[in-house]
Amino acid sequence: MALLEVRELSVRFGGVVALDRVSFTVDAGEVVALIGPNGAGKTTLFNVITRVYRPSAGTVLIDGDPVARIPPHEVVRHGLARTFQNLALFRSMTVLENVIVGDHIRTPSGWLQSTIPLPGAVKAESAARQRAMAMIDFVGLGAVATRPVAALPFGTQKRVELARALVSKPRLLLLDEPAAGMNMTESMTLLDTIARLKSSGITILLVEHNVRLVMGISDRVTVLDFGKKIAEGAPSEVQRNPLVIEAYLGRRHQHA
Ligand SMILES: Nc1ncnc2c1ncn2[C@@H]1O[C@H](COP(=O)(O)OP(=O)(O)O)[C@@H](O)[C@H]1O
Ligand SMILES: [Mg+2]
Repeated sequence: MALLEVRELSVRFGGVVALDRVSFTVDAGEVVALIGPNGAGKTTLFNVITRVYRPSAGTVLIDGDPVARIPPHEVVRHGLARTFQNLALFRSMTVLENVIVGDHIRTPSGWLQSTIPLPGAVKAESAARQRAMAMIDFVGLGAVATRPVAALPFGTQKRVELARALVSKPRLLLLDEPAAGMNMTESMTLLDTIARLKSSGITILLVEHNVRLVMGISDRVTVLDFGKKIAEGAPSEVQRNPLVIEAYLGRRHQHA
């Protein structure tokens, strides 16, 4: 059974059809890339999977169970974690503080424990710190752990988001343009990081415009254009597909 199954999913915003009967699956342990020009519906799909938006029609299944049954605030507890295309960090807080937030989402007592010094809370807090630092080191940001996020370049902030998503120990990780704002060296380091996540058994759905990253890491690629799935397959197949080339290079789109 697929870890993620998207079945006949449609999302409408007024007159805009952001997703039009999209179906695809992601098996456990795979890295699947979701590509397509700007406005294709990629972020909307992430928002449906993580219960931010309700679909107009269709279903999303995680391990065979409909995500619609998961209360939105419990998505992380069900093994889903994501990063955001436009960042969702607390800009005045440090890297470490931002990543600890990801851990607090996981622990049931959460913020309460950090404000009231209950017995055991100090110990839990230092364990949370350690888990956060481990992930910060994993994404290569150990040297800036105590710096406020606002002082860091966009590409570095994207790595903070990755660390925060990882601290919840997700089964399925959704990455929305993780290489945006990164130079070639940084994006190749990210490729290596994603490869290590894959070998640790995390399943990844990757939205990304960086072709080298997509081609270098994905087992399969699904292509959306104007809310419709127009192609899927091995990276090399998809790259040669005339419909995909047209979607990216056609004059009706601003090139992303
Ligand atoms: N909250 C929203 N309200 C209205 N329209 C939206 C909303 N979110 C996305 N859209 C529209 O849905 C379409 C798909 O957007 P999006 O999922 O962000 O595309 P992508 O991530 O592939 O660039 C676009 O036409 C966009 O304007
Ligand atoms: Mg998007």
